[in-house]
Amino acid sequence: MSNKKNIASARISAQGSDLLKALNDSLPFDKVLYAQDIEGSKAHAFMLAQQNIITQEDFEAIDRGLSQVLEEIESGLFTLDGGDEDIHMANERRLTEIIGDAGKRLHTARSRNDQVALDFRLFVQHNTKKISKLILENIQTLILRAKESTDIMLPGMTHLQHAQPINFGYHLLAYASMLQRDYKRFISSFERNNLSPIGCAALAGTPHPISREITAQKLGFDEPTLNCLDTVSDRDFALEILFNISTMMMHISRLSEELILWSASEFRWITLSDRHATGSSIMPQKKNPDIPELLRGKTGRVNGNLVSLLTVMKGLPLAYNKDMQEDKEGVFDSVKTATLSLEVLNEMIADMKINEDKMEDACMIGHLSATDLADYLVKDANLPFRDAYHITGNAVNLAEIKGVDISELSLEDLQSVDKRIGEGVVELLDNRASMNARVSEGGTATVRTIEQIEKLEHWIDNL
Ligand code: ARG
Repeated sequence: MSNKKNIASARISAQGSDLLKALNDSLPFDKVLYAQDIEGSKAHAFMLAQQNIITQEDFEAIDRGLSQVLEEIESGLFTLDGGDEDIHMANERRLTEIIGDAGKRLHTARSRNDQVALDFRLFVQHNTKKISKLILENIQTLILRAKESTDIMLPGMTHLQHAQPINFGYHLLAYASMLQRDYKRFISSFERNNLSPIGCAALAGTPHPISREITAQKLGFDEPTLNCLDTVSDRDFALEILFNISTMMMHISRLSEELILWSASEFRWITLSDRHATGSSIMPQKKNPDIPELLRGKTGRVNGNLVSLLTVMKGLPLAYNKDMQEDKEGVFDSVKTATLSLEVLNEMIADMKINEDKMEDACMIGHLSATDLADYLVKDANLPFRDAYHITGNAVNLAEIKGVDISELSLEDLQSVDKRIGEGVVELLDNRASMNARVSEGGTATVRTIEQIEKLEHWIDNL
C-alpha cells in the first residue's frame, strides 16, 4: 500500500485499500494528459493572478514550477508512477514539492471536475485537428491515384455482381468523397466544441471573482461554456470524436474490403506493395493483405469504444460521477487507432499497383453495356423503357448462347433480336463508349471524373 498522504482527501482518515486504489486510480492511463493538465493549470494560475486572487509572485512561481514538472515528465525524471490518484493530483503534488506553499494555491476556484473536463477537451480538440489533417492527406493521395486512372475501366458492381463499366479514378473518388465528409465532420465538431470548461469548479461555479474569458482566450477557445452544471457532466465532445472516428473507420474498412478483394487471385486488379503485405509462416508462396484486414478489423474496436461511452453516459444524474472516468481509455485508443490507420492507408494507396489489363479484361464479363442498349431503344426507337428492357434481355440471352459479351454481338446478331435496332448500336455497346456516355453530373464519364477531381482540388485549395 502506498503511504503517500492523499492531498485530495481531507475527510477520509483511513488509508484506501489496495483494491480501492487499483479500481479508483486513473493515473496509469490519464497520464497521457500530462501536457494538457499543465497547459490548463498555467492558464488558470495566470487568470487567478490577473484577477488578484493570487499574487503575481505566486503565479510566477507556479508557472515556473509547472514548466519544470513538464520538463521532468518529458525527460523521464518524474515518472508518473508514484501512486497518485490521477494526473491532476500527480502534477499538483510534484509542483508543490518543487515550489512549496505557492503550489497549494493553484487549485483555488477550481475542481478536478472542471479540470478533467478541460484537459480531456484540449486532448480531443488537438487530436480532432490532427486527424483532420491526416484525412486531407489521404484525400490528396486518392486524387493523385484517381488522376492517373480516369481512363482505366473496371466493372462497377451492385450485389458484388458486374453492373456497368466505370473508371478506376471514379471509384477512388467515391472514397475521396466519403473522406471529405469525414473531414467536414471533424472540423464541425472542433468548431462546436471549442468552448472552455475551466472555471465551472465542482458544478455550481465559484464565489471567487474569476474570469472565464481570460482562461478561454489563453487556451485558444472561442468563449466559456454556458452552464457549469452541464459542463462538468458533459462528454458529448468525446462522443463526437468517437463517432467521427467510427464513421471514418467504417469508410476505411469498406475500402480495405475492396483492396482485399481486388488483391485476390480471382481479381488481381491491384497489387499491394510488398511493404504492405506479409507472408505466411507455413506457405512460402503466400502474400497476404494483412494491412487492409487490420484496418477492417480495427473498425470493430473503435465502434466498441463509441458504444461503451454512450452506455456509460446514458444513466448518469448530473453532475460529475466517477463512472465518467471511464471516458478516457476508449478515446485514447480510438485516436491512436485512427491516426495509425490513416497513416498506413495513405502509404498503401500511394504504393499500390493498379493492374489496368486485369480490370479491363473483367469488363468483358457480365454484359456491362446492356443498359446502353435499353437506353438506345428508348432514346432512338422511342420504345417504352419496359419493352426496351425485355428486348435487351433477349440480346443478353443471345450473347450467352454464343458465349460472347453483349459488346461483341454484330449488328446482324442484334437485329435478329429486334428489327428496330439500327446502325451505330455496336459502337454504343463498346464498354468505353458506355462509360463515357454517362456524362450526367457526378457520373463516371472520364470528362465528368476529371471535373470531380477539379472540384475536390478547388475545395482543398480554398480550405
Ligand atoms: N480522475 C477523474 C476522472 O478522470 C477526475 C477527478 C474528478 N474526481 C472526483 N472525484 N471528483 O474523471
